[in-house]
Amino acid sequence: EGLDGRPFSRQRLLVVANRLPVSAVRRGEESWSLEISAGGLVSALLGVKEFEARWIGWAGVNVPDVRGQEALTKALAEKRCIPVFLDEDIVHQYYNGYCNNILWPLFHYLGLPQEDRLATTRSFQSQFAAYIKANQMFADVVNQHYKEGDVVWCHDYHLMFLPKCLKEYNSEMKVGWFLHTPFPSSEIHRTLPSRSDLLRAVLAADLVGFHTYDYARHFVSACTRILGYEGTPEGVENQGRLTRVAAFPIGIDSDRFIRALEVPQVQDHIKELKDTFAGRKVMLGVDRLDMIKGIPQKILAFEKFLEENPDWRDKVVLLQIAVPTRTDVPEYQKLTSQVHEIVGRINGRFGTLTTVPIHHLDRSLDFHALCALYAVTDVALVTSLRDGMNLVSYEFVACQDSKKGVLILSEFAGAAQSLGAGAILVNPWNITEVAASIGRALNMSPEEREKRHRHNFAHVTTHTAQEWAETFVSELNDTVVEAQLRIRQ
Ligand code: G6P
Repeated sequence: EGLDGRPFSRQRLLVVANRLPVSAVRRGEESWSLEISAGGLVSALLGVKEFEARWIGWAGVNVPDVRGQEALTKALAEKRCIPVFLDEDIVHQYYNGYCNNILWPLFHYLGLPQEDRLATTRSFQSQFAAYIKANQMFADVVNQHYKEGDVVWCHDYHLMFLPKCLKEYNSEMKVGWFLHTPFPSSEIHRTLPSRSDLLRAVLAADLVGFHTYDYARHFVSACTRILGYEGTPEGVENQGRLTRVAAFPIGIDSDRFIRALEVPQVQDHIKELKDTFAGRKVMLGVDRLDMIKGIPQKILAFEKFLEENPDWRDKVVLLQIAVPTRTDVPEYQKLTSQVHEIVGRINGRFGTLTTVPIHHLDRSLDFHALCALYAVTDVALVTSLRDGMNLVSYEFVACQDSKKGVLILSEFAGAAQSLGAGAILVNPWNITEVAASIGRALNMSPEEREKRHRHNFAHVTTHTAQEWAETFVSELNDTVVEAQLRIRQ
């Protein structure tokens, strides 16, 4: 059985991602409890049902003792998950350091950290070495579990070296790699000291996938400009070997959200929320507390809206769910205080003795509570400064078939390419424009809301996570067959 309890069929798939779909919490020496992890990758892959999938990844916890490791391995096996154990130092250098302090901001156009820009940095070198070491550790675990004919699907910026490590073990392995973040313009990628090594390592895969055509194009340009390889309509070619590169826009398991709205507990929750916010329009933001999500800019735009529209002050509320993430990275700690300060100032400025304009929560909500919240929302604000796709926008649309609320969406989220016609698109850096869009959304006629919602709902319910995964894996199978034919010719 898979994570959702359904039986498996067909092809064996090894899904390798830094983070397993479940995080482990230690309850005793040999006792663990498992919780669903946050983030777009997990929420998309939970919708994948067609394969006999096994997951390989980090359980998000340091387990130094063998007994603890054995107990956790056993608990995870029930969820078809296989752990990769990373010690504290590796987590610090690979995950907090190279992945989240270097690659993540760079791929989202936030540049390299200042200290690393000053060159000669020993920390950059040692973080990169830890990155390669960690990728090798993931490869070792894949190897132990690999069976001939398996498809190995590597995910995200944490594992750019994995295709290379795997092909070095076994050149026959079918290896795909998919990036869940944007791939930036080649001019941005060029600034990265390890730019060439990373590109070459990814190109060892048979198929390389991105959310949008633009990201794929940036990747191919980086390979042609930085490595001098040839870009073709199929991908990147070097010395007769082709790596196929294409766009595979991700989706969600929309039925799961639609069905959840029928659950009595969710309906009760919807009723409670409606009572609580009666007489006020509900605006909603749901984000990991990450600088790419543009939370401070969004809140400042809301402040500007309140400033310019005194009539709305007691008629609208912004609920911002900010899920804590990567809390050991200093940039994320700074962001938390910055957001708290802004929220405090605005609530102080526009609040009354009994109400505040912004409810800000530093935590995640369980699935049912989240669905209820999506369902009662009048306007969702997804204003990422950059975002690979952003599945919150999809989840909101899936839960809005009765309300037909408005989605305000950043033009720098991958989702703008699929939901752009139904959403109000904004430049999140332009606070005046976002404030004006809030007004437009709140005042939109029911006919226009209906028309826009129809467009987005049709997209979200037909471009699902399951279809995304099936398309990627079948393309990977075809790519490998075509490559074999080419060699024989
Ligand atoms: C994004 C990344 C994922 C990551 C998730 C949560 O969606 O693309 O790879 O798992 O954020 O971040 P975390 O660092 O907690 O895994």
